[in-house]
Amino acid sequence: MNIILDLFGIHIVFFSTILILCLSWLFWPRKNIGTRKILLRTIGLISVFGIILAFRAYWPYSYEKNYLNTPVSKEIMSTPLKALADSIDFNIGVAIASNSEFKELIAKEFNSVVAENDFKPKKLLIDPVHWKFDFSAADRLMEFSKSNGMRMRGHTLIWGKFPGRTYPQLWKKQIAESADKEETMKSIMTQYIHTVMGHFKGQISTWDVVNEPMAGEGLYPSPFTEAMGEYYIDWAFKHAHEIDPDCSLFLNEQIYDYDGPAGKAFLALLKRLKKRNVPIHGIGLQTHHIKGIHDLDGLKRFIRAIGELGLKVEITELDIRLLLMGNEDDPYEAQGVQFGEVVNICLRDQACEGVTFWGLTDKVNWMDHIPPFSWKSPNAPHILDEDMRKKPAYIHIWEALKKAQPNF
Ligand code: G3I
Repeated sequence: MNIILDLFGIHIVFFSTILILCLSWLFWPRKNIGTRKILLRTIGLISVFGIILAFRAYWPYSYEKNYLNTPVSKEIMSTPLKALADSIDFNIGVAIASNSEFKELIAKEFNSVVAENDFKPKKLLIDPVHWKFDFSAADRLMEFSKSNGMRMRGHTLIWGKFPGRTYPQLWKKQIAESADKEETMKSIMTQYIHTVMGHFKGQISTWDVVNEPMAGEGLYPSPFTEAMGEYYIDWAFKHAHEIDPDCSLFLNEQIYDYDGPAGKAFLALLKRLKKRNVPIHGIGLQTHHIKGIHDLDGLKRFIRAIGELGLKVEITELDIRLLLMGNEDDPYEAQGVQFGEVVNICLRDQACEGVTFWGLTDKVNWMDHIPPFSWKSPNAPHILDEDMRKKPAYIHIWEALKKAQPNF
């Protein structure tokens, strides 16, 4: 419910209002002609207003690609991001699909990868009733990363957001019907984490153990919280640590209001986890720019605050919706500047060990397929355009890495 409100909030409010007005008109006593007329006019007015707003909001804009007028320098063309990142021991990564057509380019440009979907419960646990797993796609990616000397981030073990998508529907049913919810959930998590981490033991050095546990100031309600409250997080980390004590264990979250209630609640959660000696080693800040542009000073302070808790940080899912820059003179350039700034912030804080982009090219991007993001365009959230040309984003990231070189 929370996520639906979060994503579709304004639409839900709008359609509910129209629906309530229509129902009122339908059931209002017929003899009360005056009120029925007012209701009908209000419905008409709101509908017209809504249609105009929808046209304005959903009109597919396109912005001038001014960057095509400036040739990319020889140095940038000949020095991949990976070369710059390697020399300062920094992780520069990208999300990838097992059937990606860009593997060669990815191996050239990045020293780290993460599976966009292939390591998620939905992909791995193909038969939750019989605990049957299919690791074939994930293994193909693992092989790709190993043969190219790239780090593979494990994403993700426990994700309690969308039943049937981020965890099996069956688990929801099992917890709802269980007499001892806590024990049932512990046994589910034990089996899942044991099988998946066990399969990749020695190959994956960093796992997102828990993904997106927060819903604003509180925890996202799920079978995990229903069974164990906040302690499901402790349990997942403790168990993951037992299985692979050499692995860096991350909690991955999307935060916007770094200085606001959600940001504060998240830091408070981290403090509690540390106080309870939960073996958590790092925080993944997704940093998707999908609803708004992140406050960079806030991000900088937030990374520092996490670092001061003795935790590592990674920017794990960076992408920036182009249309958020629609009011700028040059939206592509503004998008690029923001990319460069985020990378720069990470490079400048000792706790921050890497940046991963949630995709490579606008040609294939998740926002164009997932509502409500797919309803508005242009999303164009990545660092290469749909023709695989370097966008200003690439250039600004490259420059941030270049400036971080010891000899610069
Ligand atoms: O593979 C099937 C395909 O066979 C089928 O025809 C098609 C029909 O819709 O669906 C395809 O699967 C989709 C998959 O993406 C591959 O495109 C799933 O329905 C869809 O749910 C899935 O969405 C992914 C989403 O996580 C949910 O797992 C997105 O690609 C992926 O980018 C997104 O990534 C998440 C991070 O894991 C966590 N943070 C937020 C981020 C963005 O939402």
